[in-house]
Amino acid sequence: MAKSDTIRQLDDHFRRENIRNVVILTDKNVDHLYGDYFSELSEQVAVDKLVLRPGEKTKSIQTAAQVWNYLAEKQYDKDTFLLNFGGGVITDLGGFVASTYKRGIRFANVPTTLLAMIDAAVGGKTGVNLPSMKNGVGTIYFPDIQLPVDLSFLNTLHINEIFSGLGELLKYALIGSNELFHSLRKRRRFPSLTTEDVDFCIDFKMKIVRKDPYDKGIRHILNFGHTFGHAIESYCAKTGKPIAHGLAVAQGLYYESLLSTRLGHLPQEEWQLIAALLTKHFQIMPITDDIREELLYYMLNDKKNHNNMINFTLLNHIGHAIPDFQIPASELQTYMS
Ligand SMILES: NC(=O)c1ccc[n+]([C@@H]2O[C@H](COP(=O)([O-])OP(=O)(O)OC[C@H]3O[C@@H](n4cnc5c(N)ncnc54)[C@H](O)[C@@H]3O)[C@@H](O)[C@H]2O)c1
Ligand SMILES: [Zn+2]
Repeated sequence: MAKSDTIRQLDDHFRRENIRNVVILTDKNVDHLYGDYFSELSEQVAVDKLVLRPGEKTKSIQTAAQVWNYLAEKQYDKDTFLLNFGGGVITDLGGFVASTYKRGIRFANVPTTLLAMIDAAVGGKTGVNLPSMKNGVGTIYFPDIQLPVDLSFLNTLHINEIFSGLGELLKYALIGSNELFHSLRKRRRFPSLTTEDVDFCIDFKMKIVRKDPYDKGIRHILNFGHTFGHAIESYCAKTGKPIAHGLAVAQGLYYESLLSTRLGHLPQEEWQLIAALLTKHFQIMPITDDIREELLYYMLNDKKNHNNMINFTLLNHIGHAIPDFQIPASELQTYMS
């Protein structure tokens, strides 16, 4: 979809809902590149803009307070509309501010990274980090309108960020579409993405979220790759070599697909296809004895795991996942070599 579609849908929405005040929340990088993206919005709405520092550190309770205070000092009322324009940091933070300012104002996301397009901006999870806990505080609060994505933003995105988004995109293929997986596998140029690929991910996530908005059951399948992925992300951060979330998830997809095969769920031939695709495009960290201990430590300390059991979503086929396998840490050790 193009910029004009986004603007038209926003204009229609603002007119229908009688919205007069819009505050754009963005970061400096995005503002620098796309500062006039919304300049063609109808003059019926007053548009203000708040530009934040880029980076994960911005996703904090201090920045949320800064945005609350900005809105309050400018006397923005409950009918003000927040337009989150940026990557997952901005959409998570902005969604959180929208869900809490005056007990909730309306908002929408215009995601500018691949990760935000297919994941962070979809599904209603909002939040900020605490110093000791990523996403430690948050809400589930849905945007007023789900806008079409504009893939042209990806032209300026750093290749590392593209591959981070691809990690999540491959997750969707593995849990939800055998067809997308094989199509990605056969592409000459990787990553050459189409609107259909991105739309598949968004539609798939929305379908799951509609069934389980508060993350009590089936939504857990979206965690595929994330048990190992989060542990690898934490381990790399601790060793002073942090990696992008989706790059850790890609490694998580590798190890959780392997686990699915070792536990007898995923056929060996399918595992081999997955391993071939992942190792071709992503660096997969070998798990030595020392690293195994560290990863187990992170997995056991994850808030989702209890009683020395670790929760996994596993695959039984490419394109089909089953959530909530509880695997004892002691048993996992034997599958991790
Ligand atoms: N709510 C959810 O369901 C959910 C899901 C996945 C991830 N997340 C969160 O998303 C965050 C990560 O999101 P992200 O990867 O988009 O990071 P990000 O928002 O930090 O963006 C990455 C970098 O790209 C820059 N950028 C953004 N768009 C650009 C563009 N079009 N061209 C050039 N540069 C651009 C940003 O300024 C930033 O420096 C994490 O905090 C994560 O926890 C949330
Ligand atoms: Zn993720």
